[in-house]
Amino acid sequence: MKIKFPIFLIFILAMGPQKGIVVADNQIAVDIGSQILKEGNAFDAAVTTALILGITHPHSSGIGGGGFVVFKNDNAIGSLDFREMAPSSFYPEVFIDGRNSRLGAWSVGVPGELAGLFELHKGRGALPWSEVVKPATRLAEEGFVVGPVLAAAIKSNFDSILSDPGLSVIFAPGGNMLKEGDLCQRPNLAKTLKKLELGLADFYSWDTAERSVVFLNSKGGDFGLYDFESYETKYRKPVSGSFRDFDIYSMPPPSSGGIAIVQMLGIFEASGLFFDRSLNATRSFLHAMTHAFADRAAYGGDPDFSEIPMDRLLDSSLHATLSVWSPEKGPQPTIEAGLASIKGDLPIVNQADDDGTTHFSILDKFGNAVSLTSTINLAFGSKMMDPQTGIIFNNEMDDFAARPGVPNAFGLIQGAANAPNAKKRPLSSMSPTIVVSNGQVYLALGASGGPRIITGTIQTLLTILDGGLSPQDALSLPRLHHQWLPETVWHEQGFEPMVLAELQSEGFLFKVGSSGVVQVAMFQDGEFKGAADPRKGAEVNISIVHE
Ligand code: GLY
Repeated sequence: MKIKFPIFLIFILAMGPQKGIVVADNQIAVDIGSQILKEGNAFDAAVTTALILGITHPHSSGIGGGGFVVFKNDNAIGSLDFREMAPSSFYPEVFIDGRNSRLGAWSVGVPGELAGLFELHKGRGALPWSEVVKPATRLAEEGFVVGPVLAAAIKSNFDSILSDPGLSVIFAPGGNMLKEGDLCQRPNLAKTLKKLELGLADFYSWDTAERSVVFLNSKGGDFGLYDFESYETKYRKPVSGSFRDFDIYSMPPPSSGGIAIVQMLGIFEASGLFFDRSLNATRSFLHAMTHAFADRAAYGGDPDFSEIPMDRLLDSSLHATLSVWSPEKGPQPTIEAGLASIKGDLPIVNQADDDGTTHFSILDKFGNAVSLTSTINLAFGSKMMDPQTGIIFNNEMDDFAARPGVPNAFGLIQGAANAPNAKKRPLSSMSPTIVVSNGQVYLALGASGGPRIITGTIQTLLTILDGGLSPQDALSLPRLHHQWLPETVWHEQGFEPMVLAELQSEGFLFKVGSSGVVQVAMFQDGEFKGAADPRKGAEVNISIVHE
């Protein structure tokens, strides 16, 4: 009798043991990042993956932007802030005085992306810096095939692209927009990246820095070389908390994400419920979102400029109070939400979609973890590319509370702690998060999608931790989003109709809407697993790297 050897077993043996996993929202970035992970470690792969994403999804991130990373190495969990900083010409009324916070040079902050990647890699990467940058230089030079997500972004921003000489040469040569399947080359960016292979000096002090200042000022901005030279990344103590038997680590201010996630987990756990999409669990979770986003509005800002009552916001006794205080039925009144309403700190209210952000997660067999979210804020940022350097500049300055009581591009109301100022970083929702179980990384996850980052990340986390679902199954479930104001709760199509009907009869206001785009990497029972969210419009295969 012939013994049949299962084909898949031979395949697995031939591949060797697992070395790690790369999960991102673009296939080219996953593939090239994985090659680097095979040769090096998670920190090497993180630099390459981030740089490649800035080329293949240039509307979502890039060296003209900034971000946050929560990471683990040598049994320590850290976070690094490489958020864009306002130039020294900024002051609190800068936008009240009539400047545009979303378009053009005044919407731009000094980019932190490269300084952040360099710092993350320093002393942690296994490969030389030049080796992890080179694949990006090559891709920008040789070009890549435009995928569905970039094609859609070009189409929906076509007028802005045509009116900017830098963007139009690359994305609409001869006035014809690039479509899916076309080759996109970025020779100007390749030159900038080539210089970057040597280190950061060119970008922050020398030619490229000088060139960026000239470019931004020619567009009506007020930048000095000093703004680039004095840019600094900051290590910050991650926000930490627990949920059930898991330890949660996420991004502290100037992100609002970590505090909001730990606060919501605390309020939800104090309710004594299980996250099972039942009526009671859904109502409690909606209340938790109202409280957390009210406090985001009241207290969120750059910790180098304002006191943020972190200890009180993260205190489990506050979470217990808020969970009891929530009405038994009906929406949480928005004027009775959060620590801010107890203390009388709620901001005065006068009452987008995500395209400008990306998240990726990388784990390796050495126990390293990288959960990194990067942004240029809205699609194609300030809608300006310097034709000489190929840098697309962010419009992150709109994440400040540009005008008191007026919502930003994401409909978020924000308080005085987030007023613009010189050298200040605007409040963010980016929530790179790591979940640890018995000292080992269990999940690394995060999202893009403005405030939907926070609610998308926490629902995925709860669905995996409480519901026991795989990352892929968790991402396939419809989600909710609520951000204190407006009072609307957005739900994705297909979210438990009976639960929504009952909550509607209690007074909740529902609208169909979108959720964040979440990327999850997991280490469970000695194996790497993960899933990339299909919500951005591309099916991305995650890559499990073998030795
Ligand atoms: N620009 C989106 C965020 O930082 O939340």
